[in-house]
Amino acid sequence: MDLNTEMIYHSRSEEETEKLASEIAASLQPGATVLLRGNLGAGKTVFSRGFARGLGCDDTLSSPTYTIVQEYQLPGGARLYHMDLYRIADSAAALGFGVDEFIDDPKAYKLIEWPERIESLLPEKCLTVEITHQGDEERTLRITP
Ligand SMILES: Nc1ncnc2c1ncn2[C@@H]1O[C@H](COP(=O)(O)OP(=O)(O)OP(=O)(O)O)[C@@H](O)[C@H]1O
Ligand SMILES: [Mg+2]
Repeated sequence: MDLNTEMIYHSRSEEETEKLASEIAASLQPGATVLLRGNLGAGKTVFSRGFARGLGCDDTLSSPTYTIVQEYQLPGGARLYHMDLYRIADSAAALGFGVDEFIDDPKAYKLIEWPERIESLLPEKCLTVEITHQGDEERTLRITP
C-alpha cells in the first residue's frame, strides 16, 4: 500500500476498519508513528487491533486507558507501543509518565490515540489517521502522510 499520498477510505464495519489497519501496518517499517485522531467511539482502538494483527501480533489488543502505554512484542524482535492519552492533560503530564521514551524508540511502531494532548512532543514524520462517524457502522478514514 502506498502511504505517501493522502487517501480516503469508507468503512462499513469494524472488520473493514481492522482489515484496512492491518494492511497499513504491513506497509510500514519499525519506528513508524501513527496518530489516531477522532471522537470517542470513532474506532481508534478497533484500528489499533487490526494494526497489531497486521504486524503479526497474536496478543489481543485491549484499550490501554488505565495504563497509558501498552507494549506488545512482535515476531522478529520489533515492538509495538499503543498509547491512549485521553486522560493525560498535556505534554508536561505526558513527560511525567515518560511518554517521550516510547515515542523516541527508533525500533518500535507507535500508535497514539488522542495525540492532540501532546502536539509538542510528536515526531515530525507521522502518519495521521483521522476517523469520522458517518453512521452506526460507517466511518470515513482519512490517511495523511
Ligand atoms: N466501521 C467501523 N469501524 C470501527 N469501529 C466501528 C465501526 N462500526 C462500528 N464500530 C464500533 O465503534 C466502536 C469503536 O470503539 P473504539 O473503542 O475503537 O473507539 P475509540 O475511537 O478508540 O474511542 P476512545 O476515544 O473512547 O478510545 C466499537 O464499539 C465498534 O464496534
Ligand atoms: Mg480507544
